[in-house]
Amino acid sequence: MSDLYAVFGNPIAHSKSPQIHAAFATASGQDLVYEARLAPVGEFAPAVAEFVAAGGKGANVTVPFKEDAYRLATRLSERAARAGAVNTLSFAAGEIVGDNTDGAGLVRDITHNLHTPLAGKRILLLGAGGAARGVIAPLLAGQPVSLHIANRTADKAEALAAAFSDMAAVHGGNYEKLSGQQFDLIINATSASLAGASLPLPVGLFAPGSLAYDMMYGKGDTPFMALARAQGAAQVADGLGMLVEQAAEAFFVWRGVRPETAGVLAQLRAALAG
Ligand code: ATR
Repeated sequence: MSDLYAVFGNPIAHSKSPQIHAAFATASGQDLVYEARLAPVGEFAPAVAEFVAAGGKGANVTVPFKEDAYRLATRLSERAARAGAVNTLSFAAGEIVGDNTDGAGLVRDITHNLHTPLAGKRILLLGAGGAARGVIAPLLAGQPVSLHIANRTADKAEALAAAFSDMAAVHGGNYEKLSGQQFDLIINATSASLAGASLPLPVGLFAPGSLAYDMMYGKGDTPFMALARAQGAAQVADGLGMLVEQAAEAFFVWRGVRPETAGVLAQLRAALAG
């Protein structure tokens, strides 16, 4: 029997994870089945228990269950503990091991696929929710010269910056506080794009040669990507590459094999444009 994996979320019908993992499995010759599972909100733990009882070996976790998964884990990787959220679960010997591959996926997309090293860069992270928190430690590990977190609610950005101040000099504040500053890498980790809203960013943030990265993706530019282009970002990217790379990292956690990602990313890109 093939090893069983799944992604849990709500909603989940449009998840691309089953397609991504099926492609990884075929390309790397791994025998596994990967399903999308809808869990009722508030019933994540029983849904996972049922899956484990059915022989599930591992699971990805998406909105809104990443904090539930963090609490459910009996053991956490260091990066999951830092993120305060879990997107990858492994089930073995009665243990539920929680990991988080989101930050590694983002960093891999930026450094490998987009050819942008983090070392020495001035990074601006927009947003101070779960998505932002999950990527801070992996970004800092790339040795940027600075990391600034900006958020609509300044307190949340300041608290998040303080939570990582043992790793590097991280600063936080509201969007107005950004006036007069320039950054080499600006990452949108807010959910503003979901609502089609743009962020009140002061002009002049994008340094020459800068990369603007939206963790969201969709058909065409997100509002943040459009703003970045208009304000002179040299390179603009959406989060489709991060989606594929976080999946590849989860696949590696489960199978010990690092799948090739370029082909799957190209396929998804073509489907999104079509
Ligand atoms: P996620 O898990 O996606 O990070 P979250 O924890 O709810 O979700 O965080 C959402 C983030 O997007 C927050 O930083 C939020 O800003 P506030 O902390 O001020 O609420 C940000 N956000 C959502 N909609 C926004 C909007 N229209 N304009 C600016 N920021 C927005």
